[in-house]
Amino acid sequence: MAGPAWTRRDFLAGSAVACGSLALVPAVLKAAAGSPIVLDATTASAQLLDAGEPRTPIWGYNGLVPGPLIRVKPGEQVRVRLRNSLAEATTIHWHGIRNRNDMDGVPGLTQEPVQPNDSFDYVFAPPDSGTYWYHPHLNSGRQLARGLYGMLIVEEAAPILVDQDLALIFDDWRIRDSGEIAPFGGLHNKAHAGRLGNILTLNGNPYTRIPVRSGERLRLRLLNAANSRILKLSFGELSPRIVAVDGQPIAPKSYFDGPITLAPAQRMDVVIDMLGAPGREVPIGEVSRGQVEIAKFVWHKSETARKEPLAAPIELPPNRLAEPRIDDAVRVPLVLAGGAMGRLSRAVFQGEEMSLRQLAREKGMVWALNGVADMPSKPLVRVPQGRTIVVQMRNDTRWPHAMHVHGHHFRVIKRGVGAIDPYWWDTILVQPGEAMDIAFVADNPGRWMLHCHMMEHHESGMCTWYEVLDPKAPAASFEEQLLRSICRGGV
Ligand code: C2O
Ligand code: CU
Repeated sequence: MAGPAWTRRDFLAGSAVACGSLALVPAVLKAAAGSPIVLDATTASAQLLDAGEPRTPIWGYNGLVPGPLIRVKPGEQVRVRLRNSLAEATTIHWHGIRNRNDMDGVPGLTQEPVQPNDSFDYVFAPPDSGTYWYHPHLNSGRQLARGLYGMLIVEEAAPILVDQDLALIFDDWRIRDSGEIAPFGGLHNKAHAGRLGNILTLNGNPYTRIPVRSGERLRLRLLNAANSRILKLSFGELSPRIVAVDGQPIAPKSYFDGPITLAPAQRMDVVIDMLGAPGREVPIGEVSRGQVEIAKFVWHKSETARKEPLAAPIELPPNRLAEPRIDDAVRVPLVLAGGAMGRLSRAVFQGEEMSLRQLAREKGMVWALNGVADMPSKPLVRVPQGRTIVVQMRNDTRWPHAMHVHGHHFRVIKRGVGAIDPYWWDTILVQPGEAMDIAFVADNPGRWMLHCHMMEHHESGMCTWYEVLDPKAPAASFEEQLLRSICRGGV
């Protein structure tokens, strides 16, 4: 590598000075020694519409959207105090973290809801480096859509050399001209593609200029925080190389064929060398509903970081995940059914079989997993710790679903559409009509949710849970304690 041995900090400081703008980056929150980071879930307002138009009343952690960026070092303990200043109960789920079960934030399954004016301390040591995020797991359709989310970055022990390491958090809002978030509810969203918005934001801004210098290397941590929209991001003529998926490193892959698809909750880390002469501009577009320009890389007018791209390697060291052993796996079918134009006619809800019509009208349920709408009282599967689970998903609906497994990352071992990749995912898009087998070693004891991350689907039936038995823990009869309606939040 040419030039002096700069540290990453120098790179960051250098670019900040050169461009005079870090406004697009979510505020990084550092805890004072010995005290927890405080995330105060509260009402606030944000300029989501263009400047000059009305502000939007939102809910945000510490009043911000996105919430503070939390960055931890490997092995470091995360200590977060959730303070609930909202008028309704909430929790925080640490999405993608192979967390200890009692810190997973799922009301009714792993903790009690955190009531207004109450607080809850989340203390855990993330086992893997990578890009993760946090959001509520109670009334999550509304709470997420109002702005309660943020990124959690677990740094690598030896980070790859980049000039800027940027969190890019995309969201899709449904906002009225008055600036207000459009009302929630209604069966239509639930039974179709979920709540799709009319305004896209990046880090809470309607339009973002990202200052760069010619030759700089960027690491972008892309997160889709939308309730239900599948994002398709285009980076113009730039050549992003994907280095991690859902937080887990992959062998760097150049991405040429069209936009990068990010299902709700998915993350991708990409590295881009900002080649080109000073003064260049390249937009970031979202093309799922025609081309929407959401941000723009703006090359500094005169400064050049370097003439040739960095030669330093971009491959991230893998995390230590156990390889599934397919031979002696426990296989569980999971049939996704329901929704508009689907074939589901009846499903069980809280132990009672009902027609889909009645379920929709009386219970607001329109989806089922294995014939059960909402949380079943019994787990999908219960295995001793260390067993491999293969979930054989079949999407028997007319809609794609972003299926998310708590507590573990999984591999895709069989799929009906497209090629099988060698990645570890925590959330994966299952296309209409598709059959897909996913596999993971159930090495993390506890009760874990498995659900569609399209929040409106999640809340209207598409959720279940599985249990990994800790050989050291006494057998519990958990079914009886299970709270009702956990899809929506167990209240
Ligand atoms: Cu990101 Cu169960 O959620
Ligand atoms: Cu879904």
